[in-house]
Amino acid sequence: MRKIDVFDTTLRDGEQTPGVNLNSIEKLEIAKQLERLGVDIMEAGFPASSKGDFEAVKKIAQTVKGCSVTGLARANEKDIDWAWEALKDSAEPRIHVFLATSPIHMTYKLKKTPDQVVETAVNAVKYAKQRFPQVQWSAEDACRSDRKFLVEIVTKVIDAGATVINLPDTVGYRSPEEIGHLFRYMMENVPNIDKVKLSTHCHDDLGMAVSNSLAAIENGALQIEGTINGIGERAGNASIEEVAVALKIRNDHYKAETGLKLDEIKRTSNLVSKLSGMAVPANKAVVGANAFAHESGIHQDGVLKEKTTYEIITPELIGVYSNRLVLGKLSGRHAFKQKVQELGFDLSDTKLNEAFQSFKDLADKKKEVTDEDLFVMLTDKQTES
Ligand code: KIV
Ligand code: ZN
Repeated sequence: MRKIDVFDTTLRDGEQTPGVNLNSIEKLEIAKQLERLGVDIMEAGFPASSKGDFEAVKKIAQTVKGCSVTGLARANEKDIDWAWEALKDSAEPRIHVFLATSPIHMTYKLKKTPDQVVETAVNAVKYAKQRFPQVQWSAEDACRSDRKFLVEIVTKVIDAGATVINLPDTVGYRSPEEIGHLFRYMMENVPNIDKVKLSTHCHDDLGMAVSNSLAAIENGALQIEGTINGIGERAGNASIEEVAVALKIRNDHYKAETGLKLDEIKRTSNLVSKLSGMAVPANKAVVGANAFAHESGIHQDGVLKEKTTYEIITPELIGVYSNRLVLGKLSGRHAFKQKVQELGFDLSDTKLNEAFQSFKDLADKKKEVTDEDLFVMLTDKQTES
């Protein structure tokens, strides 16, 4: 079984979702949950982009010690310096430097020749390597780049000290077959490829981000990048939870696995949805409300006779417990605490006691306290100083 590293970018690419703006308390809350989920690397933000993001990345790097924390930087010394200031206290300082390599981006956005792009990338990686033990370099728009040019720049960037090479499908343009072919080509043609891990980072413009990530894994990628619930620019990024569950359920086929604690998936999804304000569609794979619901008589009959007739994933696998707890005025502190955790909240003992009291007051007035009631109440409690 090949181990695939999970690089979560919910707090950076995910935050680039139109309309989403997480404050530093919310980012830290999500970061702690991502740590519980067991991601290998979390991209906490883009330190040079704003003072607020710099502070958030710094706080996360100082707090989260169970995984590597990284931040994005353009290929220039100023961005790398900001990233170092934000990340130097992390358990394993890691930077993510990127530069576009496609003809469209080099000509119109960067206004640089291919040779200038190679020089800029190599210099940035060498500079970053003076401080960071782990340097990831991304060839933005790799999947629309010339392959021979990609081989040249990746070879030189590896010689300059990069430890991870990421080949993003920045605009979600490619098909699984094409992505698989690109990764295989790089594995076979970059002479020093064995010195690094190859990473995949797919966007979902044509609805293929998860399939494309899996195709990259089948053809040599050892790291997958994505976001929880697939949030991100435009149509979003590959949904990490979908890739991880696909690898688990179809490990006979992929022969690869992540180290994620899959039963933390639902909780993580709930938290990200709540704090980002991005609702999860009911029919979304793995985390949608209907993912385990059976409506038609034939399906219900089949599932009652034998679950596997229509259910390839058990709800418990992702932390959904079928005998759902319904909370009312007779519910005790233990059930309340479990529900709070299921909904993705992590409250101190004092806040939990206060929330329990508010819940009891509400339960006196209502027969059943719904998850929505609790969301509102717990969000208020969490953000209270
Ligand atoms: O999609 C993309 O190319 C990116 C890079 C910054 C890695 O998010
Ligand atoms: Zn991206």
